[in-house]
Amino acid sequence: MVLAQGMAMMMWLLPVILGVATLLSCSGESAQVKTEESRGAESGMAPIEFAPPSWETIPGSQLGEQIRLGYQIVANTQEYASSYVGNRLNCTNCHLDAGLNPNAASFVGLAAVYPEYRTRNARVNTLADRINECMERSLNGRAFPPDSSKLQAVVAYITWLSRGVPSGATISWRGLQRIDSRRPLNAENGKNVFAGKCAFCHGTDGQGTMAAPPVWGPQSYTIGAGMARVTVAAAFIKSNMPRSWGWSLSDDDAYDVAAYINAQPRPDYPGKVRDWPKGGKPADSPY
Ligand code: HEC
Ligand code: HEC
Repeated sequence: MVLAQGMAMMMWLLPVILGVATLLSCSGESAQVKTEESRGAESGMAPIEFAPPSWETIPGSQLGEQIRLGYQIVANTQEYASSYVGNRLNCTNCHLDAGLNPNAASFVGLAAVYPEYRTRNARVNTLADRINECMERSLNGRAFPPDSSKLQAVVAYITWLSRGVPSGATISWRGLQRIDSRRPLNAENGKNVFAGKCAFCHGTDGQGTMAAPPVWGPQSYTIGAGMARVTVAAAFIKSNMPRSWGWSLSDDDAYDVAAYINAQPRPDYPGKVRDWPKGGKPADSPY
């Protein structure tokens, strides 16, 4: 138990201790993407490999500096974008390994798919717009101004991670690998799974510990965040939680525990009144 806790803490603190050095090791490890049920619509194009560039390919120019800053903002949002964040989360808490993990809404290849039309706001979103959506909803913060050098840095980082991915390509690892629940949600089971498999790191009160960020309460994501939808949280949890033990929960347990954490109090998102203006609201939207 004590050893496991020590290891969990190391896993979480390592990127902080080693800084950018872990980027390299993470990219190697995360190359083991599950390919059987590739995500996203299939097109006639040959499949693109998950092959993020290695750290040494960052140019030693002004652009290279922007890319490194973008990485820092993603990995240590609390420090590098503190005036914009409204909770205790960092981008990398969900976009694991600073967006290099192919099982956790990876950033690799995204520059090739944006701009993209999205039904949530019924308009074409640039990559910068999409980053700001997570700033406001997932980090309960405020959007970077359009000319912000921090916003440009995150765009530069994601664009660098998308090198070699042709525009409009189908990215099989995009988003989260969705799962189905085959029976009605079981609230009691969700509570028990949380107590038995999550509270150890996230706290019995869900407010986070030294080993893991909060999953509900005032310092968590808002009800307007993607993670506040049960199907999205279940997919994330199934493939990534407990941290380092992805795919250890059954689909039903992942659904029940996702429903449990999303039934707890969390910040409101006042902008929700403008969502899905032309329809298309998903069935599991909490509002
Ligand atoms: C609470 C978890 C969480 C945090 C924190 C978070 N995001 Fe997200 N983000 C998500 C989820 C969930 C999605 C949607 C994934 C999907 O479509 O399946 C998403 C989507 C995105 C996308 C679009 C992905 C795609 O495939 O089109 C970008 C870009 C993005 N986030 C950037 C960021 C940045 C930059 C930060 C930090 C400023 C951040 N996110 C913080 C959960 C989070
Ligand atoms: C071994 C410790 C550990 C356990 C056990 C664990 N987590 Fe996590 N969890 C983490 C860490 C650490 C992160 C942030 C990942 C990072 O930054 O690399 C995280 C992130 C998350 C996130 C996204 C960020 C946030 O706080 O909203 C959710 C949701 C989550 N965990 C849910 C769960 C659920 C549900 C369980 C139980 C099935 C669970 N976790 C078990 C350590 C753990």
